[in-house]
Amino acid sequence: MNDNFIQDIIAERLGGNNYGKSTALYKFARIKALKAEAAKKFRDLPLIDMGVGEPDKPADTGVADVLRAECQKSENRFYSDNGIPEFQEAAVKYIEKIYGVRGLAAEKNIIHGIGTKPILAMLPLCFINPGDIALVTVPGYPVIATYTKYCGGEVFNLPINKENNFYPELDRIPAQILSRAKLLYINYPNNPTGQVATVEFFEKVVDFAKKNHIAVVHDAAYAPLTYYGTKPLSFLSVEGAIDVGVEIQSLSKAFNMTGWRLGFLVGNEKIISLYGTVKDNTDSGQFRAIQKAGIYALNHPEITDKICEKYARRMKLLAEALNEIGFKASPAKGSFYCYVEKPKGLKDGTVFATAQEAAEFLILNANISTVPWDDSGNYLRFSVTFSAETPEDEIKLMKELKRRTENLGLVF
Ligand SMILES: Cc1ncc(COP(=O)(O)O)c(C=O)c1O
Repeated sequence: MNDNFIQDIIAERLGGNNYGKSTALYKFARIKALKAEAAKKFRDLPLIDMGVGEPDKPADTGVADVLRAECQKSENRFYSDNGIPEFQEAAVKYIEKIYGVRGLAAEKNIIHGIGTKPILAMLPLCFINPGDIALVTVPGYPVIATYTKYCGGEVFNLPINKENNFYPELDRIPAQILSRAKLLYINYPNNPTGQVATVEFFEKVVDFAKKNHIAVVHDAAYAPLTYYGTKPLSFLSVEGAIDVGVEIQSLSKAFNMTGWRLGFLVGNEKIISLYGTVKDNTDSGQFRAIQKAGIYALNHPEITDKICEKYARRMKLLAEALNEIGFKASPAKGSFYCYVEKPKGLKDGTVFATAQEAAEFLILNANISTVPWDDSGNYLRFSVTFSAETPEDEIKLMKELKRRTENLGLVF
């Protein structure tokens, strides 16, 4: 009798019997391993971590104070299921205040999520039957694509790169793909490219969705984080958007609340209801005290203004430093990310065939961590969430970045 049968019954969506047998490391696991290797090598040279995709600071004390008070109240102990109405109401006001979108109904157009990652995981369950297609921009945040495949669907990648100004080329999608496509996933300000949306682009997306009967998921995780006069832009601010899609709003980045796990889905009533059905069968809602702390955050958008001020300052410094090193960088108008083409190689003739190779070289030779992207072109992502206490420390860190890269012999 085979007592060790677990391997034999693993679902095909996870690789079936081959699960765990590949030695290939997922990109972020590889970066982690290289950081550990570099830490051993460079005992006296601290890591410059430009790879992090999380805020460098905790949530505002006002938010924390609300949690401290609310978590002790008996009335907050229950399952919150699909959320408390007060959070939905605060979300309606927030969307109106930040993006100028009016007319949303708290009970119909908004449901919270335990972070936005699970929302992205649940949306394919609402639409994708085996053989259906999700259109997904690449490079990008992979969750909706992964769950589309878990549902037996297929993913059609829409490359975004310098040539198309980091917007998907919707008019180049073949007709036989369009006829099977049900979802379009877009994300602006974009992770990892830093590109921001325009009204014209969103209008094009609405037309495309209407014409092809495709539901749009706009991931606005970074939407409140915009700089240099660029205003936060909601997909829902474009006429007709609410007929075709939803938007995902996260408190993780805009309010330094990554670990708190709070976000919401907003938009088309039918899609919200579908998500509510799946969510109701998946989780029992975020802790009410956290939702109440979230209400405080949504009522205090000046918290985000302060965060934006810092990132805007850092983004300029970072782009300047990268340009001095030899990269071609311009400060992103939104998100955490400065996205630059990889160096070609080294003066000794070494060629970096991929951004992965360039990133590995930077960690192992200068203890600088970045995130490589080789999905559409070869780019490195530098994040402004690096750790530095004061503006002076930020300048020092940029000098150190330049010093460490000066003698590496990088060729661009
Ligand atoms: C584009 C994008 N969407 C969604 C998320 C998930 O954010 P959260 O689940 O913390 O709301 C992230 C996190 O890095 C992201 O970069």
